[in-house]
Amino acid sequence: MKALVLSGGAGTRLRPITHTYAKQLVPVANKPVLFYGLEAIAEAGITEVGIIVGDTAAEIEEAVGDGSEFGLDITYIPQSAPLGLAHAVLIAREFLGDEDFVMYLGDNFIVGGIADLVGSFRENRPDAQILLTKVSDPTAFGVAELDASGKVVGLEEKPAQPRSDLALVGVYLFTPAIHEAVRSIEPSWRGELEITHAIQWLIDNRGGVRSTTISGYWKDTGNVVDMLEVNRSVLEAADGGIDGSVDEASEIVGKVKVEAGAKIAGSRIVGPAVIGAGSVITDSYIGPSTSIAEGCRITDSEIEFSIMLSGSSVDGVRRIESSLIGRSVEVTPASRVPAAHRLVLGDHSKVQIAS
Ligand code: G1P
Repeated sequence: MKALVLSGGAGTRLRPITHTYAKQLVPVANKPVLFYGLEAIAEAGITEVGIIVGDTAAEIEEAVGDGSEFGLDITYIPQSAPLGLAHAVLIAREFLGDEDFVMYLGDNFIVGGIADLVGSFRENRPDAQILLTKVSDPTAFGVAELDASGKVVGLEEKPAQPRSDLALVGVYLFTPAIHEAVRSIEPSWRGELEITHAIQWLIDNRGGVRSTTISGYWKDTGNVVDMLEVNRSVLEAADGGIDGSVDEASEIVGKVKVEAGAKIAGSRIVGPAVIGAGSVITDSYIGPSTSIAEGCRITDSEIEFSIMLSGSSVDGVRRIESSLIGRSVEVTPASRVPAAHRLVLGDHSKVQIAS
């Protein structure tokens, strides 16, 4: 069995972070979302992985390399334009050969991995096995309709009037039957070959589609609150441990990971939290559910329930909550007179000011 991981796409929903960054590399608890997927694939006993890459190919290849760190053997498959998930299967035909495979969307996050799912697929080998989860806004997803016995009878891609609240999760298991399906469909209104339509083709022409409903799912719906929430749940399950330095005037409470080379001085850190390699926290408070990436500097400030990406700094600011701060960002207080906010914000930024 092989895996096909999709790591192209523009990431419009996570702007402005994704203006300069592949969406699959946005970190959760200081680790790119994509890495959780690759680890889940390795844990399910799959080693041969094709990664579909687009405009951000160079970043993805730099982050993942040849896959040996994950115990995987990776082949990169370039997609000339984001022409859809079924198009990705089409262009991966040679890589996939006649093997079964799991298709994993690199911006999806599934708590608990996929080992059980892969195991049950291997036993039953339906043409396709899909994952479903209840979501609050089904219009942003592929949506499944089930009959009274729980059998999938219909799938729709981003319907305006969804027939259920069961969204298609971005992990699909296929036998080679999918290849005929992806060759048989036409592009959708958004100009993409939809995997949802290919699976509908399997339902209509062969009938062998199974579904499993899961909880513990997240996708980049552009909702920062969701992202903070998945960060919180991953931090809660992660291990603490101090690999950096913590001075005597500091206090560490609960599960806190201080990565190598990080320095904590005169500060209070309440876990679950992670402080990235080489970051310096001075005279500050870091509250629960916070991930500070590597090379950050937090001085004389308070921050809680937030994610801060690498190389950013906060100096003399009380207090930051529920925030997603990008790379190499500087946050400082304005001078007292005139009492004004001074902002340099990139396209699609969102700012909420307490005043
Ligand atoms: C894609 C699929 C959709 C699925 C979603 C899961 O949407 O088309 O059916 O529910 O992934 O992440 P897209 O990311 O292209 O908007």
